[in-house]
Amino acid sequence: GVTRHYKFNIELKNITRLCHTKSIVTVNGKFPGPRVIAREGDRLVVKVVNHVSNNISIHWHGIRQLRSGWADGPSYVTQCPIQTNQTYVYNFTITGQRGTLFWHAHITWMRATVYGPLIILPKPNQPYPFPKPYKQVPIMFGEWFNADPEAVISQALQTGGGPNVSDAYTLNGLPGPLYNCSAKDTYKLKVKPGKTYLLRLINAALNDDLFFSIANHSFTVVEADAGYVKPFNTSVLLITPGQTTNVLLKTKPVSPNATFYMLARPYFTGQGTFDNTTIAGILEYEETQNLTTTPVFTPVLPAINATNVVSNFSSKFRALATAQFPVTVPQTVDRTFLFTVGLGISPCGNNKTNNQTCQGPNGTRFAASMNNISMPLPSTALLQAYYTKKSNGVFTTDFPITPLNPFNYTGTPPNNTFVANGTKAVVLPFNTTVEVVLQGTSILGAESHPIHLHGYNFYIVGQGFGNFDPSKDPKSYNLVDPVERNTVGVPTAGWVAIRFRADNPGVWLMHCHFDVHLSWGLRMAWVVMDGKLPHQKLLPPPSDLPKC
Ligand code: C2O
Repeated sequence: GVTRHYKFNIELKNITRLCHTKSIVTVNGKFPGPRVIAREGDRLVVKVVNHVSNNISIHWHGIRQLRSGWADGPSYVTQCPIQTNQTYVYNFTITGQRGTLFWHAHITWMRATVYGPLIILPKPNQPYPFPKPYKQVPIMFGEWFNADPEAVISQALQTGGGPNVSDAYTLNGLPGPLYNCSAKDTYKLKVKPGKTYLLRLINAALNDDLFFSIANHSFTVVEADAGYVKPFNTSVLLITPGQTTNVLLKTKPVSPNATFYMLARPYFTGQGTFDNTTIAGILEYEETQNLTTTPVFTPVLPAINATNVVSNFSSKFRALATAQFPVTVPQTVDRTFLFTVGLGISPCGNNKTNNQTCQGPNGTRFAASMNNISMPLPSTALLQAYYTKKSNGVFTTDFPITPLNPFNYTGTPPNNTFVANGTKAVVLPFNTTVEVVLQGTSILGAESHPIHLHGYNFYIVGQGFGNFDPSKDPKSYNLVDPVERNTVGVPTAGWVAIRFRADNPGVWLMHCHFDVHLSWGLRMAWVVMDGKLPHQKLLPPPSDLPKC
């Protein structure tokens, strides 16, 4: 591989959407941010210089970061944030991955405007295991807030209530013609007939799973989270925040006398408000004449709460599982964990400082948790604390391996489900094989949660509705060709089982990729110890690692 250098200037830029002009934080003045392209095996060296008054850090979402956890990016987990006028160089090698990922800010809600595609091409001379696309097109979904997203979340945390929802979804930064004052900000994909296009779909929205479809066209899914899958056809896709999906789009053999809407809008089953608007882009054939008079076709998207569609779709993903791209799912596991994942409330007094109100349900504050523990971020980074053996007072290693007070997770919730605060980790010796069952709860309404693991891909070996049954459900696990991902949607009022081998030493966050749930504490950390051999140890920290 080669070394590729990028420079990220974090700077303000005036951007207008929906007739609102505001100054937003960007990378190099671009919105969405610049495309980072590399090949499998390359080293990326990205110098980030912070010219704004906000603290920032950049996460390379889905990159394994083998032994290079210092470059992972979540603030107060693997690094202290990069402060105003400071610089940090992210330096890491891309090993064993190829496909589409993305990068985003990883502190508060800064990723609302600071994100971009991260494209990993195969090694030189290594063909795709599918027909070579004529062209590759990143399609990146995001959310636009007319207000300052930082103010939206800090206000919500201050009051204990729910944050205001976004004003629009965006496709490559553009909301499209279904919003007021937005027709000129429409993404157009111009295609030639009879060709195969590779669409690299990325859900960088803050808080919503999205359905996506293009009228009168269908897709062949070929990759998920930078791993090849057995190809399958579908006309509708579901992508959770944090997930990426590569699909082939075969254009019609002859240019039709029509243009086609591509639409995306949320899948949502929870309670409370959400942004239920629809983003539209346009697929247009280059040779189509008289564009102003051609009919425009609109795709049919599933109902907002179509959990059956989501579950059918997610069960179609299978690893490619060839000799060249084998499945290495642990057939047996050393440690098993059961983590509940869901929303909850905490008492009004919890974390309450002067002037705070408690506008959550019945005068409480909203919280979100795993195994009833909501994790506040420490004031120094977990990885530094662990590496320098100064974890006292920063975090403890007693994160519960199963719920402390089991209940009927997907049934009527018990009365006393107050969430406790704790910055807690689970320690894993090097090479431990791990199974985690993520169990959704219905304490504040059942909702799907996109759970993302840093530093690893995991295999999705099973999923189902209701409560996980340890005596029955493991019998139907797929240990032959389970899909490998870094983000999984825990089924609404259901569970999912994931497996991985703890072969990457460091401190790794696992969290809900809905930023509102993340802000409410839906996260925990794994501490993976060094192995005995030199190549099984975390590398030493770089000299420019930011200080808190
Ligand atoms: Cu893309 Cu910790 O997140």
